[in-house]
Amino acid sequence: MDIILLGPPGAGKGTQASRLEEEHGMVQLSTGDMLRAAVKAGTEVGLKAKALMEAGELVPDEVVSGIIGDKLDELGPDQGVIFDGYPRTAAQAESLDEILAARNRKLSHVIELVVDEDALVERIVGRYTCGSCGEGYHDTFKKPAKEGVCDVCGKSDFKRRPDDNEETVRTRMKEYRAKTEPILPIYEKRGIVHKVNGMGSMAEVNDAIEAVLSL
Ligand code: AP5
Repeated sequence: MDIILLGPPGAGKGTQASRLEEEHGMVQLSTGDMLRAAVKAGTEVGLKAKALMEAGELVPDEVVSGIIGDKLDELGPDQGVIFDGYPRTAAQAESLDEILAARNRKLSHVIELVVDEDALVERIVGRYTCGSCGEGYHDTFKKPAKEGVCDVCGKSDFKRRPDDNEETVRTRMKEYRAKTEPILPIYEKRGIVHKVNGMGSMAEVNDAIEAVLSL
């Protein structure tokens, strides 16, 4: 099973992809996470991506499609994946078709998280992660059980993304509306798009996705 999670910044793609990894043994392929790792490592891809990401703009199509193809080659042919934050443009959707066809893979579902954009700003500016193990938290929606201490690894090294400020979030949303939303009809024509209300609790959204996957 290969699926795409589609939705604007803060819609909950990463949150739900992690749950699907746990529940179905799938692998999350987040281009945002891969690009952040490249920026941190100072690779050629990271150098190209850094300023664009900090401004909330998209990284060139060929850069992200290249890293997705490489990642799939590292996984076995039977390993189901969740595309999180990819594809984001018509050119990326076309590349993904070629990448999957070349590896005898096929998309089974495109899950669109339908959300209220104003609420997303609150979700994003309140988000932080554990710098040691990567567990995600939120100032309001998901606090660690003991203040300042990661529930998973017990460390106190939390960090926030440089692009998680209101101004950059608005640019990221504009990019989503202009370049990503228009790719939905490509998948609607194939009958694989399922709309899920992304405004419920994390568990409710997860249940709705599970219901779609069990169809
Ligand atoms: P990327 O990392 O993909 O960011 P994004 O799409 O903006 O999405 P986010 O990670 O911000 O949100 P999410 O939907 O995963 O939400 P989350 O689950 O964390 O991309 C970053 C940048 O990289 C781009 O701007 C671009 O520059 C570049 N890039 C990446 N991919 C690219 C591509 N394909 N092409 C070109 N450029 C690319 O949830 C958010 C918060 O809300 C969390 O704190 C969470 O705890 C909380 N939350 C989640 N669900 C709920 C809920 N149901 N109720 C309450 N709180 C919730």
